[in-house]
Amino acid sequence: MKGLILAGGTGSRLRPITHTGPKQLVPVANKPVIQYAIEDLRDAGITDIGVVLGEKGRGDIQRFLGDGSEFNVEITYIIQGEPLGLAHAAGCARDFVGDDDFVMYLGDNILKQGIKQFVQSFEDGDYAAGIALQHVDNPEQFGIATVDDDGTVTELVEKPNEPESNLALIGIYVFSPTIFDAIERLEPSWRGELEITDAIQHLLDDGEAIDSHVVEGWWKDTGKPEDILDANRLVLEEQPGSRNGTVEENADVRGHVDLHENARIEAGAVVRGPVSIGSGTTIAEGTYVGPYTSIGPNCTIVNAHVESSVIVGDCELTADGRFVDSLIGRGATIGSADDLLPAGQRLIVGENSQLRL
Ligand code: DAU
Repeated sequence: MKGLILAGGTGSRLRPITHTGPKQLVPVANKPVIQYAIEDLRDAGITDIGVVLGEKGRGDIQRFLGDGSEFNVEITYIIQGEPLGLAHAAGCARDFVGDDDFVMYLGDNILKQGIKQFVQSFEDGDYAAGIALQHVDNPEQFGIATVDDDGTVTELVEKPNEPESNLALIGIYVFSPTIFDAIERLEPSWRGELEITDAIQHLLDDGEAIDSHVVEGWWKDTGKPEDILDANRLVLEEQPGSRNGTVEENADVRGHVDLHENARIEAGAVVRGPVSIGSGTTIAEGTYVGPYTSIGPNCTIVNAHVESSVIVGDCELTADGRFVDSLIGRGATIGSADDLLPAGQRLIVGENSQLRL
């Protein structure tokens, strides 16, 4: 069994965070989203992994994953170029996959329970594909499966206007190489992409058996800012905390805090876990860092109150303000305008930013 992680695409729904980097590298609890996929595959015993890359952020992902040895896997890069759809991306990996079965994992998805059982069930049966499903409130935004009472999949539709069910295909699939023949027969969908959902429907039409599982634990497609914040909360909730940095004597720290190397919580700062603080970051006097916050490496936070937020890294937050449910991109500086004239907010805001003042 091989693994295939799709990390092409444009990340347009995460702009401006993705203006400077790919969405698969946006950190959740101080770990890039794609690393969760790598670790999930590895924990299921899959170490021969192809990573499909587009044009955007290609170098950044390659620099981060390298040859995979740091994660105890072996990585082969496959260049898709233009993001012409999930099935197109899979098709680009045909030579890499060869005659093996493979798990296809969307590089912006995080799954709590891992994929071991899902892979095992596929291997124990005689299936052309295995799909993982979860009930969602907004089925028109996903690939949707209709499933009989006995669990047999009867129909799959990509982002239907009038969904027959609310069982979404989550971004993890197992395939036999038969999928490549189905992909070859695809026509572009209404959104101009070759849809993997349509390819699996072709397998159904051909009378092939499809294994399906409704996933119990949480799952997140981190395509939008609020999804990153949700995923961050869910991951932090389960993380035990660590103390690799320094907590000064009169700092007030409670709950699970994952403090990375060379991070420092100074006297007079208040931190309430679950929180993750990246390496080299300083939480200075007068600062409050509240639950469900991840602060990336090399940040300085002075006087601010931050809660339920993700700060990517290399940021300076020195404004005496309250930041909640915020996603702050790399290198951002948020200072105080108190001593400026004329008085007022002074902003340098990137394209597609969202501010609430
Ligand atoms: O998250 C689950 C959903 O993922 C499924 O329910 C849908 O059936 C499936 O089509 C997919 O929908 P999205 O519209 O959310 O897919 P997105 O365009 O966000 O791409 C998912 C990942 O695949 C992302 O990491 C980028 C990568 N990708 C995407 C395209 C279109 C590629 O590598 N190449 C591509 O051409």
